[in-house]
Amino acid sequence: MPFLEMKNISKRFVDVVANDRVCFDVERGEVHTLLGENGAGKSTLMNILYGLYSPDEGEIYMEGNLVKISSPYDAIELHIGMIHQHFTLIPNLSVTENIILGLPSSSGFLLELKKAEENIDNISRKYELRVDPKSLVRQLPVGLQQRVEILKALYRNTDILILDEPTSVLTPLEVEIFFKIIRRFTEDGLAVIFISHKLNEVMSISDRITVLRGGNVVGTLKKLDTDANKLAGMMVGKEITLSLDKPSVKKGKRLLEVRGLSVNSEKGGKPLVNNVSFDIHEGEILGVAGVDGNGQGELADAIAGLQPVSKGQILINGMDVAHLSPRKRIERKLGYIPSDRQRVGLIVDFSVAQNLVLKNFCDPPFSTRRLFLSHKNITSNADQMIKEFDIKVSHGNEKVAFLSGGNQQKVILAREISGKPDVLIAMQPTRGLDVGSTRYVHQCILQHREQGGATLFISTELDEVIAISDRIGVMFEGEIMGIIPGGDRADLEQISLMMAGVREQKTKKSVS
Ligand SMILES: Nc1ncnc2c1ncn2[C@@H]1O[C@H](COP(=O)(O)OP(=O)(O)OP(=O)(O)O)[C@@H](O)[C@H]1O
Ligand SMILES: [Mg+2]
Repeated sequence: MPFLEMKNISKRFVDVVANDRVCFDVERGEVHTLLGENGAGKSTLMNILYGLYSPDEGEIYMEGNLVKISSPYDAIELHIGMIHQHFTLIPNLSVTENIILGLPSSSGFLLELKKAEENIDNISRKYELRVDPKSLVRQLPVGLQQRVEILKALYRNTDILILDEPTSVLTPLEVEIFFKIIRRFTEDGLAVIFISHKLNEVMSISDRITVLRGGNVVGTLKKLDTDANKLAGMMVGKEITLSLDKPSVKKGKRLLEVRGLSVNSEKGGKPLVNNVSFDIHEGEILGVAGVDGNGQGELADAIAGLQPVSKGQILINGMDVAHLSPRKRIERKLGYIPSDRQRVGLIVDFSVAQNLVLKNFCDPPFSTRRLFLSHKNITSNADQMIKEFDIKVSHGNEKVAFLSGGNQQKVILAREISGKPDVLIAMQPTRGLDVGSTRYVHQCILQHREQGGATLFISTELDEVIAISDRIGVMFEGEIMGIIPGGDRADLEQISLMMAGVREQKTKKSVS
């Protein structure tokens, strides 16, 4: 019987099934990884194990006995510890204070603190989790704060340690050290549950891997029986269901050229975008596929001017804009649909009409002279856009905050596409949208293509990237692994290999 077993766990939130009869188990001495894309249900399953959510159905067994975990207290009592995706430490307390916080104390506080410091010292020596117990948490870099979180769990005699995307805050070198520490835990008999969507890490640290997709278990495999390519396929699914009606368009002159573009990480280590080159012609859509978090967002932001470029060139119509302000790039006919609508794309406290002129309100006809806005023209522009882009809103003065996600996205699309950009960057433009709105976004982008525009279409939905793109580049750890044909000619096997970090093998099929 397994050390810990979760049986047929289901959890529904309003309109999503986050976990659908999920079965999962872990043994002492092993690292069992939960792998899946954003929203697959990984954190939900572990939050259930840690008592933060109660499942709608299903049971949890430890060494064969049914256990009830209604709160983290129950979980800690059962020697389950969890390191969350977002840390929960108190910055103004010391390491030791944070670790003993919430534990019952038997002796006086100062005595307790002294004893605790000794204990912590022992644990950190044993696992080489070096950190000074006296320093304040806010003085520590995030890598060390994570150690404190782990020490806190170990201090409570953890047998099962849940690590929810622990490596996302670490540099590659720190990851290596961290994996050695995890190995010490398992040698010591701990059961470790590791959450990640980075395939190379998963292949390096796991004993077993369970792949989740859309709340369902796709499969549980031994590491030795699988490889990154197979896991990528399981993670993203293989059935391609989407097809779009795409007329053929003559490829014209080059509108966007990206040459050796790099974006450095603030944390140091490997660049987030690493020496990326591609070009896009008139009437062409270049799709970017890849597992989330492989530099796609930074690439889009760098082209739009929201992220500093460390190296390389971005040529729009032959002119290098890599070091121009976002505004200057807009003037060079660049449009940007960002993934984070509410933070970057819109000012939600402004009206629909105001948002529609966010990028050109200082220009005629919206501004008659310097500083004088023409409300009449702003309103009539809004009326026209609302009609043309079918934005569901009673009038242009309504605040964007009150619109549904799909209609917010239409406001951005209307603004960006009506500006008639030569180059359109679309970053996850359909994330969170329903089927109807998704189709609408696709149509708008295809129309831009038919009118001779160039589009960079970035999405983690492989289906839509394949359906909409003329060519597809696959990103992995900041690099483009290769560029291959899209649409019907797309080679899925090749794409999933590249998603797993295997460079394109030059075959007859490859295009440049
Ligand atoms: N508290 C909540 N209320 C409503 N929906 C939620 C809640 N928590 C999670 N969800 C939804 O459940 C689904 C699974 O989310 P979960 O956080 O488990 O995914 P994940 O695999 O951990 O993703 P990520 O890699 O982005 O962390 C998502 O669609 C998410 O939006
Ligand atoms: Mg999560």
